[in-house]
Order: sequence, then structure tokens, then C-alpha cells
Amino acid sequence: MLKILSVVGARPNFMKVAPIIEAMKQRPREFQSRLVHTGQHYDARMSDSFFRALNLPEPDAHLGVGSGTHAQQTAAVMQKFEPVVLAEQPDWVLVVGDVNSTLACALVCAKLLVKVAHVEAGLRSRDRTMPEEINRLLTDQIADLLLTTSPDADENLLAEGIPPARIRFVGNVMIDSLYANLERAKQSSVREELGLKGQDYAVVTLHRPSNVDDAPTLAGILDALAQISDRLSVVFPVHPRTRGRLQEFGLLDEIERRAPQLRLIEPLGYLDFLRLYSGAKLVLTDSGGLQEETTALDIPCLTLRENTERPITVTMGTNRIVGTDAGRIVAAARDALDAPRPPGHPPFWDGQAADRILNALLEAR
Ligand code: UD1
Repeated sequence: MLKILSVVGARPNFMKVAPIIEAMKQRPREFQSRLVHTGQHYDARMSDSFFRALNLPEPDAHLGVGSGTHAQQTAAVMQKFEPVVLAEQPDWVLVVGDVNSTLACALVCAKLLVKVAHVEAGLRSRDRTMPEEINRLLTDQIADLLLTTSPDADENLLAEGIPPARIRFVGNVMIDSLYANLERAKQSSVREELGLKGQDYAVVTLHRPSNVDDAPTLAGILDALAQISDRLSVVFPVHPRTRGRLQEFGLLDEIERRAPQLRLIEPLGYLDFLRLYSGAKLVLTDSGGLQEETTALDIPCLTLRENTERPITVTMGTNRIVGTDAGRIVAAARDALDAPRPPGHPPFWDGQAADRILNALLEAR
């Protein structure tokens, strides 16, 4: 019996851990599951609603760290996580993705000589101005088992000198969540509530500091969205950070006046958001996960960044990297709508990654 302590902290973690916990439930002789929520995300719409939609159990420990600078947040997670690990004595700690909670918990375990497995290891944007890139690089250096979603991630790790024995290609566990919930999401009435039934529409998400913390960049992206909304409705569920900046820069009223077809709404829960983007003609985003989810569902995606740590979504999938220049975004939107990329599905993005992760943990003991 292996005792596995999984860590979640921020919104993109929940859909990666849920299928792994569910798979452990199906194998009770082999696994005992414990769950820690660091509290990096705490709004009901950013956290609680995901626990309900994804059937995540109540966390065994909630660290309640909340917001802060990177140093404050990372340090707070470390301080509060250490006693939990000491009390629980797990065989493995499982961290996912690239948020501050991921690195903080991996670092605690490395010092305590508790084994850590990193789910979604090896992704690299090669842009060290992104906080997530630092989190990825450091977590992979200190984790004992590196579970990867795509062959390019294995290549990145090998190129950094990581021994092959520490690396296992298991596929994409976030896509397990996607396939497990696609049917259930049909019960959501979000399209009807937004008056989109039978209409073509695009979906937007934006939250990267490099896009939303700089007024001219954010204004340029909004200009592009306003132009695209002349052709089809655009729905934009707004992350709390982004809403704060829109208000601060005085952009909120202006955009609502200028582009009535561009709808800014509150962040959506997992099932409502899945229902919304799965019917979209086009997605524009700076998220990492959404680049992958749109590839799995054959939906054209424009990534509003200069790089991606998920190149397989471009080489095999539906994604295009278009940056933040308004003219370039509008031209790419036109291309993507008029000539969508042929669909392609990366290997092991098949809904079975969670079981492969559990098998890897058993084999690595
Ligand atoms: C974090 C992750 C990012 C991930 C994103 C998904 C890091 C470095 N960044 O970014 O990789 O893609 O989550 O959303 O870990 N806030 C709230 N309520 C919340 C959470 C945040 O109001 O529940 C506001 C606060 O003002 C906070 C700000 O958003 O200061 C930023 O939150 P934070 O967790 O630091 O980073 P995210 O931008 O959400």
C-alpha cells in the first residue's frame, strides 16, 4: 500500500489531480490518498466550485496561504506544508503543473528526503521571465519522478542532464478530466444563458502578468478582441487579476461601450467553462491548459504569447502562437476561422493517464 499525498493550490491544478484521486479510489488495496490544498486560490469561483464539479474530496489539510508576492506566497506554502508532510509521512508527494505551490511543496519534500513525483514535468517555454518557467525548471531538478505529457518534454529533461530512469511518459491527465466530464457538461445551460445557442462565438481567457499588468499590451489585446467581435460574439470570463487591472487602467467602461458583442463575464466553473469552449469556433488565450484542451477537442486556438511550453499543440494540434500585436491577432483569427488546422491528437492524450501515473508510482518504489 502506497500513501500518496497530492497537492493542489491554484485553479489549473484541480483538473489534474481529480482523475488521479479517482483512480486511487478504484485501487484501494494499492493506494491510500491524502489531499492538501495550499489555498493559493481561494475565491469560490477559482477554487470551491472546482472541488464540487470535479468530485474532489475535502482536503485533509488546508494551508490557507492566499495571495502575496512570489516570495511571500512560496515561503508561506513551504512553512505551512512542512509540518503536514512530517505528520503524514507519505510514501510519495504528488505535485502538478507549474504554479508557486508546485515548487514550494517539491522543495519542502526534497529537503525532508520525502519522494516527490511531478505531473506535467519537462515543459519548457525557454522564457525565464515567466514565473512558471522558473517553477518548472526547479521542480524538475529536485523531483524524484518526472511524469511527462509529451515526447518533447522527455527530450527537454534529457537535454538538462536528467537520468532517463527518473522520467516516465504517461500522457496528459488533464485530458482525462476533459473526457470524463464532456457528457456531464452538456447539462450546463451556459450557452443558453449567454444567448449563444445556435450562434458562432469565440471564447477568450487572459491572466498572464506579461499581458494584463502592462496597460498598452492589455489595451492592444482588447482592441483586437473588439475587431474580432464585429464578426462573431466573443465571451471573456475574466480572471480576478485581469479584472483588477482593467479597472485600474480605466479600460472596463471603454471596452463595454465600444464592443457590445464582446461580453466580459465572471470566471466560470469547470463544467460551465467546458460547455462554453467546447462549442466555440475559436479560442484566444494565454493559458497553458486551454492550448491543450482545444487540441483535444479540435478547436482552433490562438495563443496570445510569443512562446509556448506546449509545442505539441502547434505541431500536432490546432494551436497557433500569435503574440499580442492587435493586427497580428486579427489576421490570425481570420485565418483560423476560414482555414482551421486539420485535427491531430498527441499520443496518450486518451483519458487513461491517471492509471499510467499510478503504475509509474508503483514501479518506482
Ligand atoms: C496562478 C499561477 C498561474 C496559473 C494561474 C491560473 C503562479 C506563479 N501562477 O496565477 O501559473 O496559470 O494561477 O489562474 O503560481 N486572486 C483572487 N482570488 C483568487 C486568486 C487570486 O482575487 O482566488 C487575485 C489576487 O489579487 C492575487 C492575483 O489574483 O494577488 C494573482 O493570484 P496568484 O495566485 O498570485 O497568481 P495567478 O495570476 O492566479
